[in-house]
Amino acid sequence: MTPAELQLDENDPLRILQLSDCHLLEKPGQKLMGVDTELSFHQVLQHLRSHSLWPPDLILLTGDLVQDPFKDNYRRLLQTMDSLNIPWVCLPGNHDSLQLMETILCKKGSHCAKRISSPDWQIICLDSHKENTHRGHLRQQELDFLFQCLSNDPQRTALIALHHPPIAVGSAWMDTMKLDNGGEFLALVARFPQVKGIIFGHVHQVFTAHYGPIPLWSVPSTCFQFKPGSKDFALDRLPPGYRWLELYAGGRLETWVERLEHPPEGLDFLSVGY
Ligand SMILES: [Fe+2]
Repeated sequence: MTPAELQLDENDPLRILQLSDCHLLEKPGQKLMGVDTELSFHQVLQHLRSHSLWPPDLILLTGDLVQDPFKDNYRRLLQTMDSLNIPWVCLPGNHDSLQLMETILCKKGSHCAKRISSPDWQIICLDSHKENTHRGHLRQQELDFLFQCLSNDPQRTALIALHHPPIAVGSAWMDTMKLDNGGEFLALVARFPQVKGIIFGHVHQVFTAHYGPIPLWSVPSTCFQFKPGSKDFALDRLPPGYRWLELYAGGRLETWVERLEHPPEGLDFLSVGY
């Protein structure tokens, strides 16, 4: 089956909003780490609706859409996202179910598009979900798809999105769950000078690094945050956030993170696991 694609109109810049790690629970009002993750997600959307840059041209959800996969939390996510009337695309994280995403979120093919293109850019979405582990992995099929996108379309500048960080972020407990074939992935990407950035979620914090000339950027979660540089699991007191990306014709990319004013209510600093 050919992976679904989404075509966007010519806009300069093309403005993309990255949201990640929503961790919606089975029922509205339930809490994780003391936080009502769904309420926090809605507060992020409410905050964005009054943002001067709203609406973006595309919203990209980079995985861990839910904490535990149920039909109901995916259905509510679909309903919420569709109600925005903005093109949106999601990719899976370690907490997601590929099967439920397929049957609920991907019914409208464009929501699970693997490649999003505009006249000047292509955004390639990769699936780093590996069954029965929180660790990430890019199967050969994903690496082949990436290679094809980049080699078939050298004139379009490229942005790559996935859930897991391809390199260590300096947090020992979190780094056990990074992409287990990140080296292979980055070596492939480095062959294509049109790649201007790699974005990911999973780490619930802001992290920036370079692999040669290629920048790597993470994003805060829409609910609770993890403490950067922590050896063991630790929550941070920072508010939820999101990343803006502005893609310009000619290949320039501007990106930054913004956060809400306050951390989510109820953060339970005695939580010991993820
Ligand atoms: Fe994750």
